[in-house]
Amino acid sequence: MTDKSIWVVDFGGQYNQLIARRVREAHVYCEVVPWFKCVKRLADERPAGIIFTGGPASVYAEGAPKLPRAFFESGVPILGICYGMQMMAHVLSGNVYSPDYKEYGRVALRRSGAGADPGDPLFAGIPEETVCWMSHTDYVERVPEGFRVCAQTDNCPAAAMENAERKLYGVQFHPEVHHTPFGQKLLSNFLYGICGCKGDWTPANFAKAKTEEIRRRVGGGRVLCALSGGVDSSVAAVLTHKAVGDRLTCIFVDHGLLRKDEGEQVMEVYGRRFRMNIKRVDAAERFLGKLAGVGDPEEKRKIIGGEFIRVFEEEARKLLSKEGGADYLLQGTIYPDVVESGNGESAVIKSHHNVGGLPADMKLELLEPLRLLFKDEVRKVGEELGIAPELVWRQPFPGPGLAIRCLGEVTPEKLRILRESDAVLRAEIDAYNEDLFARTGKRNYGAEDDDGGERAVWQYFTVLPNIRSVGVMGDLRTYDHTVGIRAVTSVDGMTSDWARLPYSLLETVSNRIVNEVDGVNRIVYDITSKPPGTIEWE
Ligand code: XMP
Repeated sequence: MTDKSIWVVDFGGQYNQLIARRVREAHVYCEVVPWFKCVKRLADERPAGIIFTGGPASVYAEGAPKLPRAFFESGVPILGICYGMQMMAHVLSGNVYSPDYKEYGRVALRRSGAGADPGDPLFAGIPEETVCWMSHTDYVERVPEGFRVCAQTDNCPAAAMENAERKLYGVQFHPEVHHTPFGQKLLSNFLYGICGCKGDWTPANFAKAKTEEIRRRVGGGRVLCALSGGVDSSVAAVLTHKAVGDRLTCIFVDHGLLRKDEGEQVMEVYGRRFRMNIKRVDAAERFLGKLAGVGDPEEKRKIIGGEFIRVFEEEARKLLSKEGGADYLLQGTIYPDVVESGNGESAVIKSHHNVGGLPADMKLELLEPLRLLFKDEVRKVGEELGIAPELVWRQPFPGPGLAIRCLGEVTPEKLRILRESDAVLRAEIDAYNEDLFARTGKRNYGAEDDDGGERAVWQYFTVLPNIRSVGVMGDLRTYDHTVGIRAVTSVDGMTSDWARLPYSLLETVSNRIVNEVDGVNRIVYDITSKPPGTIEWE
């Protein structure tokens, strides 16, 4: 990690994290910095370059975020995107115009025309005529003095501008989205050609540098970790284990709400294969006891979250008194949890995994080695560390576990049905994928029209809606449970669509569940998107 950082200065645009991801994909380290913090930081630090994100404001709106003219005098290269370009033009005495129409979607872009120069560094290797993705109302009507227009669209007289001497660049379109086909090339041109980055941000380099950093920071101290078996906490633990070995102790709270064989798998992989110092706490009875008679979803979540912290705390105390204390609490916090938006609002952190609520007398310093990584980068680091792909690419599994897939009261019998039916669904989708892979070289987890990424199935599981219905099996009337199948496509879990699993696959899963799982006589398929539904049922 020898490159200096790139700052992605956040003006509240919906794509700001995407810009940071694209920069990282170009193997350049970057940080998202709220716009109101960057003036002060620039006084003390010198990043390799700065990218302004878009944002919802118009430069003419009251209170619109703006940086002072002096900010542009530092000599650090700047690329303004959308609002970022308009703000740059406005502050440097160009003119921003608010037309009546919006330019939205895929738009033809011409570099030839007034003022274009095929040799300009931002557009090096990009065709003269291409398309880009626009999403704006305002645009720069007149570029500031010393700037020249380097691309246009039918509706936008300055789709890109530059002042090469001052290393100031602006693009009205969004190079960070997939729909701008040359977007990554343009960003790379900025990072490598203009900012002089070397591109040494790789999972291998990250893992190496982080291990050394953790070793230095922890010294002879001890680290405690709540390991859930989820991707983030596992990668954080393996990384830290590499750095400090047995001075890391992991507590794995088995709340009895895990999927079939999951607890054993965690112990097998992290305990036996990685030889980590890990203690499994079997707290199933305790959790089920607390959940007895409770049907309200929020109440269930609160009970599980609270109990989790209590169990962890008790175990931590036992361990600390026995083994001479701990100095650090390891957490699998990742970048989307810590990035502040342009409005200065922190992203919501899921409460379940946040065991920061430890009592004050346990003075543990937080160790968060993944706090600068996006989820896909965490996975790459995990692979780099030798964690098996099926664990690294594991689907998200909610902290409250099967309890929120079991509507109403949670009972051992309902958990059994959920575990068994879920195992059938997972096994059949795996088999379907292996078969597909053998035939086509592609795995799409059953998603139709899969384009290799965004539409791939995000999560699949069974739910128990807590209803019984009449059926007939072997000439006998049954009155048994209904199992729901939920399978969704999504990019980030914020919105989702139901996955179009093939009928043949659904048929096999349905047959197997009713035949193999006692107490089930009906299967339904959830065809609700999010919104209005959520991915989980509770
Ligand atoms: P929803 O149901 O809100 O789920 O559409 C979105 C994503 O978040 C996961 N999820 C959770 N993850 N703790 C977690 O760590 C939770 O309490 C929790 N609730 C939902 C869900 O599985 C989906 O991927």
